Amino acid sequence: MEIDKFQKLLIIDFGSQVSQLIARRLREAQIYCEIHPYDVVTEDFIRYEFRPQAIILSGGPGSVTDPNCPLLPPAIYGMGIPILGICYGQQLMMQQLGGRVEQGHHREFGRAILRPTNGIEKHLFEGLFEKGDETVWMSHGDRVTKLADGFEVVAQSSNAPMAAVANPQKKFYGLQFHPEVHHTVNGAKIIANFGRLAGFDGDWTMGSFRDRAITKLRQEIGDAHVICGLSGGVDSVVTAALIHRALPGQLTCVFVDHGLLRENEASDVAVMYQKHFNIPLLVVDASQRFLHALHGVNEPETKRKIIGQHFIDIFKEEAAKVVGATHLAQGTLYPDVIESLSPSGAPSATIKSHHNVGGLPEQLGLQLVEPLRELFKDEVRNLGRKLGLPSQFLKRHPFPGPGLAIRCPGAVTDEKLKILRKADTIFIDQIRQHGLYDDIWQAFVTLLPVQSVGVMGDARTYESVCALRAVTSVDGMTADFFEFSHEFLSETASRIINEVRGINRVLYDITSKPPGTIEWE
Ligand code: XMP
Repeated sequence: MEIDKFQKLLIIDFGSQVSQLIARRLREAQIYCEIHPYDVVTEDFIRYEFRPQAIILSGGPGSVTDPNCPLLPPAIYGMGIPILGICYGQQLMMQQLGGRVEQGHHREFGRAILRPTNGIEKHLFEGLFEKGDETVWMSHGDRVTKLADGFEVVAQSSNAPMAAVANPQKKFYGLQFHPEVHHTVNGAKIIANFGRLAGFDGDWTMGSFRDRAITKLRQEIGDAHVICGLSGGVDSVVTAALIHRALPGQLTCVFVDHGLLRENEASDVAVMYQKHFNIPLLVVDASQRFLHALHGVNEPETKRKIIGQHFIDIFKEEAAKVVGATHLAQGTLYPDVIESLSPSGAPSATIKSHHNVGGLPEQLGLQLVEPLRELFKDEVRNLGRKLGLPSQFLKRHPFPGPGLAIRCPGAVTDEKLKILRKADTIFIDQIRQHGLYDDIWQAFVTLLPVQSVGVMGDARTYESVCALRAVTSVDGMTADFFEFSHEFLSETASRIINEVRGINRVLYDITSKPPGTIEWE
């Protein structure tokens, strides 16, 4: 696999809520890394399979004082590979190398002030402490009370006398705090410094990824034919563009219009697509089929399952028409791959069953091609730029597979969809007119199954309520509501109420994720 040609860092995950952020910080430093749960990391995996140039041990909910705590094969410390242990990772490294960790000291959660001690390990902290002490983010109950041989304390906080420890000779480092979170102001620098100390020279660039991905696709697919489901979103478009670049003339795209799209979306996507690519595109209008199947269905998961199943059936029918197709391309991203693994190896709770074409390849007898599997969303946009895709493709807000069905809590009807589309168009138009589109991760309207009393002119109204939702986010995993001005909100609410028959009240959703999710269903 071509990824082998990049320098690689292994993140061993002990179940921290923020392990993905370690990966993000490394990718920002142009270091290729993968997250693997501790229980699959054997000595052989490290030596022969993954062969990392450095290792980071994540935090986790466990305690090394527990006899059944997650451990690492001790051989890991004798391979000559630089290691950075974070929180649980630091404590585990200390304990496994002969130090001591204890419970029962002051717990430390949230902001803490970090002070350098003896300056022996400047390199990990290069660029830090220039303006005095550093703000870091702690979250721990246990703490190291005796260092392992060869280690020295390089920084402390008021409740963690061994907040940062180092064995510079072996390039082993341990941090009690979390450098990966934003609250640790210069945490990204610490992670980048570790990469540099471990010999990484920042070879993970999108230009090099693109070239290697193209070579790999040519080797993998040869002269076979590929089909690719298109949604109009960034991931599928970039997947298609990459395959088209690697294998011109060997790709057919399929766009299923399930009737749950926004105003003019099906035609806009088709036009935008045909204008920029010379790739055969099958557009299937299946709206009636979906509406019929969703008739009277209220429950969100049931809606999602019905839509997913019909999507698969229709995709299968269309794929069968593409003579000679042997491969199916999907825009699966790295968060989709790691989200499905829980740190303990147990299945993680299903919040929503996301609709993609999972399961299709087996049923179709097609081989799966997932060229974006290693990428985060913003890296996909970057790759799209490197492929020369126009920004209108790349800057589109994400749109969920089940479409407007999950923005219509309760049963979906043609009538509700029409009202919702009109309100949504106005909201997005307002956002564009105010120059806010690119500052927002995603914005949309949800039509609530609630009627409210209002007064228009001199008459009483009894119509639907809608909620506006606009969030900022980096990858959709966490999100915060966008802070519109009062003027914007009142102007938008007036436009919706005046221009959309059927809505007489507009709400603004100020829930972050967590505890909310971005979509309402
Ligand atoms: P939630 O609502 O889970 O959404 O916070 C996170 C992001 O995922 C999108 N989303 C989906 N995308 N198929 C998709 O392709 C789905 O079934 C689906 N459900 C939610 C959502 O719009 C947001 O960007």
